[in-house]
Amino acid sequence: MDLRILLSSVAIGVLAAGSGWAQEDGDLATAVTTHREMVVTANPLATAAGAHILKLGGTAVDAMVAVQTVLGLVEPQSSGLGGGAFIVYYDAKHQQTITLDAREKAPAAATEDRFVNAGGFINAWQSGLSVGVPGVPRMMEHMHAKYGRLPWQRLFIPAKVMAQRGFELSERTSSQVAGLLAANASCEEGERLFFRDPIAFEYFVNSDDCSAKPAGTLMVNKPYANTLKALARWGADAFYQGPIAEEIAAAVQGDLNIPGDMTTDDLANYQVVERDPVCMNYRGHRVCGMGPPSSGGLAVGQILGLMENRPDLMGSEPLDVDTVHLFSQAGRLAFADRNQYVGDSDFVSVPVAGMLDEAYLAARAALITETDMGTADPGTPPGVVSLNGPDNTAKLSGTSHVSIVDRYGNALSMTTTVESSFGNGVMVRGFLLNNELTDFSFAPTDNQGNPVANRVQPDKRPRSSMSPTIVFAADGKVELVTGSPGGSRIIGYTAQSIVNVIDFGLDPQEAINVPHHMNRNGRTDIEEPIPGVTWEYDTQALADALVDRGHSVGVIAQTSGLSIIQVVESEHHGMGRKGKRGKHHHPHTLLIGGADKRRDGTVGGR
Ligand code: GLY
Repeated sequence: MDLRILLSSVAIGVLAAGSGWAQEDGDLATAVTTHREMVVTANPLATAAGAHILKLGGTAVDAMVAVQTVLGLVEPQSSGLGGGAFIVYYDAKHQQTITLDAREKAPAAATEDRFVNAGGFINAWQSGLSVGVPGVPRMMEHMHAKYGRLPWQRLFIPAKVMAQRGFELSERTSSQVAGLLAANASCEEGERLFFRDPIAFEYFVNSDDCSAKPAGTLMVNKPYANTLKALARWGADAFYQGPIAEEIAAAVQGDLNIPGDMTTDDLANYQVVERDPVCMNYRGHRVCGMGPPSSGGLAVGQILGLMENRPDLMGSEPLDVDTVHLFSQAGRLAFADRNQYVGDSDFVSVPVAGMLDEAYLAARAALITETDMGTADPGTPPGVVSLNGPDNTAKLSGTSHVSIVDRYGNALSMTTTVESSFGNGVMVRGFLLNNELTDFSFAPTDNQGNPVANRVQPDKRPRSSMSPTIVFAADGKVELVTGSPGGSRIIGYTAQSIVNVIDFGLDPQEAINVPHHMNRNGRTDIEEPIPGVTWEYDTQALADALVDRGHSVGVIAQTSGLSIIQVVESEHHGMGRKGKRGKHHHPHTLLIGGADKRRDGTVGGR
């Protein structure tokens, strides 16, 4: 496919959807509506590629493969072939919801003390120790084999064309390169920490003055095109075995900062895992998310369940002090449990059902009063078998969220990541390696010597906060597809998006435009409004009202990247198949999309 054809699909697939860059209403973006299919991503080129595949009759999974391969090229700081992902997928034909765990794994040689003497988070991040065995290529292949419709090879064409002919570097990528370069004490080779890898340095940086390549630079990535060609031709084995796998293992083991221990056997042995979704009821809706090793589904579910138990404390507006207070207290309780109990459930016992047990949540919700409770202690959910130490590590993150609904009624919610910005900073064959293993607790035990559920262990997957979510109506129909990047703030962003739609009746774009607030069992953060992007509100008045209730408050910038699709079904009198008007009731599907303008989010589809 010619790039011009792909770009014209931007016009057809995205702009025709009532402006894929969202219309302006006053200053703020408004929702985009389509009737047949929709894709929302954090980058316009990825959205265009997904919309193009949907237009060809592809499924949500087909579109996801095209989107993911383009994101790895044009938003490499957030996700890619060298990273991992979680998917919640609704299979319309079988009326079944599955989740896919494509989380990166620790190498077989990893030990509990991996990060104890690594010199702190930044040094561990920029090293071979942090690289987990990637999950994305195997995830794409697994999902396509089960749920794809278009030929596998076709799905790689958009990204391959862009990689070969070039694409314009985004302002977002360029400024993130500049931010990391500024954090280096020296730009000299051998002394640089960020972009220490000469290949990544040459790709992203002007070597003459050590500045980030500016936005608009035509970026050509032939090694990436060649990697895609190998994947398209030979499938995921081309990544996990043979020369690409050998090069990944060599890059990890030869890291210029701290060598890692990933081997070609680790790559060859990698498997994705289908797991049951974690579902709970919220105000008559069924909310389904990702279970362990992600904490997302449990923490989002706990926040919602705790809120539902306290209608007496719920506010009437998204940003009134009652709503923010109740959400913050639910956040405190949810994060206390999350930090205590959640790790990879293939290695540690996680009381999944107990954490969402209705009686347990009712008892926990009774702890909430009209004033801030201070640091919440974890509860004892039914099913706890061992006393863990908590993992309170705070995390930064480079992550992206993709929401897709196709014409067949399938829905896909995927959060995909290389962990921190640009992963561990090392480029192999055109893609960046992740630093996902820094999502493990650096301390294997707490001060009392209790093992931390999220400690490093060989072949284990680090705990995540990623919260891809699908919400169903009481009749089982898909209502909402949502999720966000943002490190452990993902949990708050995602839960708030659901509250904004279900409790306050906002459409997806309005739900995104509401400033964020949350408490991760510490300070209550409220978002500094962004003119033209979020609602304006009186931050001082809200902060003062929260302080009156005993909160410590931070007014801070927030970097969510929510991608939301709402599915609205209504009966209407339409044309019958043979063109006879009036006699037939047809379900009429409206897809309403919202994309986060805090990032480069766009909506596409028809
Ligand atoms: N690396 C971000 C997360 O998994 O939560």
